[in-house]
Amino acid sequence: MNLENKIKQLISKDSKYIWHPCTQMKDMESFNIMPIARGEGVYLYDFYGNKYIDCISSWWVNLFGHNNEYISAKLKEQIDRLEHVIFAGYTHEGIVNLSERLISLLPQSLSKCFYADNGSSAIEIAIKMSHHLNILKNHNKNIFLSLQNSYHGETIGALSLGSVGIYKDVYKNILIQNIQTPLPKDFSEESINQTLQELKNVISKNKNQICAFVLEPLVQCAGGMNIYPKEFVKKACEICKENEIYVIFDEIAVGFGRSGEMFALEECEIEPDFLCLSKGITGGYLPLSAVITNDNIYNAFYGDYERAFLHSHSYTGNPLAVACANATLDIFQTQNIISKNKVLSEFIFDKFLELNEFKNVMNLRKKGMIFAFDLVGDYERTISLEFSSLALKNGLIIRPLGNVVYFMPPYIISKEQVCFVVDGIKNILKVLN
Ligand SMILES: Cc1ncc(COP(=O)(O)O)c(C=O)c1O
Repeated sequence: MNLENKIKQLISKDSKYIWHPCTQMKDMESFNIMPIARGEGVYLYDFYGNKYIDCISSWWVNLFGHNNEYISAKLKEQIDRLEHVIFAGYTHEGIVNLSERLISLLPQSLSKCFYADNGSSAIEIAIKMSHHLNILKNHNKNIFLSLQNSYHGETIGALSLGSVGIYKDVYKNILIQNIQTPLPKDFSEESINQTLQELKNVISKNKNQICAFVLEPLVQCAGGMNIYPKEFVKKACEICKENEIYVIFDEIAVGFGRSGEMFALEECEIEPDFLCLSKGITGGYLPLSAVITNDNIYNAFYGDYERAFLHSHSYTGNPLAVACANATLDIFQTQNIISKNKVLSEFIFDKFLELNEFKNVMNLRKKGMIFAFDLVGDYERTISLEFSSLALKNGLIIRPLGNVVYFMPPYIISKEQVCFVVDGIKNILKVLN
């Protein structure tokens, strides 16, 4: 079969057998699915050998490039030793090392790791643990507090805490109780104080009923790369702690250097009760997530069998994913990634500022290795798909969130590649203007 027919067949079998995530499949009639043959560094290749820069790190997971030589080697080593083992009653070397290393990178109070295999499950675990803790303490607190414009995943608990109506509204009858409080609309003291006051009002109106406060510190990624002040995060968390409301940090998207520091909690100077990590944890290789908590919480479950936290997933602590996570931490440690990213981040943003010459570009912003702008204009609902198609024509993989165009590259991107991306975006903007 010639190449063209092979690709046609792949696309037609894809549409026959597969239902893709977060997609109205009918849109695929106008915007073809894109078959990817392989990856190397920042590039993904199609079957014709054309290469595309992965500007979104394949849904924000890839940190050190596709087919990374070091991570792949560590994964191959692990495959020959142990591919998987039940994680209840059994353990393995990789996960003991990983846990010790994660704990050593975090504030002293965070001392115990619980594992799962995706971000939403990590959120479910934090929801369940905090609720269960209250039951153990004979407290009747059934409301979860989160921020407006937030996103925490798609499982029912995680979805309940998010605020993206199109993902959530249809399920409203089966969600858990959630109140959303505003976050500052800008970085001014006035705005911060006003939103802190609103938080206090919500807490006092629902006295002793709020179990936990869940937030994506510093950047709400799915909520349109919305960057907000660390002063708000710090004070809001302090207010919650004073009111015996557990603090759950969702660093699933911003952790592992994405927000600038290794973890956003460093910048916010907060020790949350639960820290949820995923995405970059394996460098984008395999699914893994962790919920890290403190000794007090761990000890509350310690004792009779009835007190135990009986949550599990079959692939918890999978040794292959864990080998990739350890390899990812090796790269952070040996290659001084966080400092290098700070320099790279400045370079990227300087380049991105050139986009200000376009009248449909607004609110160019950055935080760490996250860069975004709003595309303003009279566009159809499908502008994101349209932008993605134009991006492919320019050798780029970009998937805007509605009208928010963002760039979250693997950290290994070179200056030349950054220039190529900015030139490509300029070409797209000229077409859309
Ligand atoms: C902040 C945040 N929390 C949770 C999730 C859910 O993670 P997953 O898609 O692995 O379930 C995401 C995914 O984008 C996220 O950005």
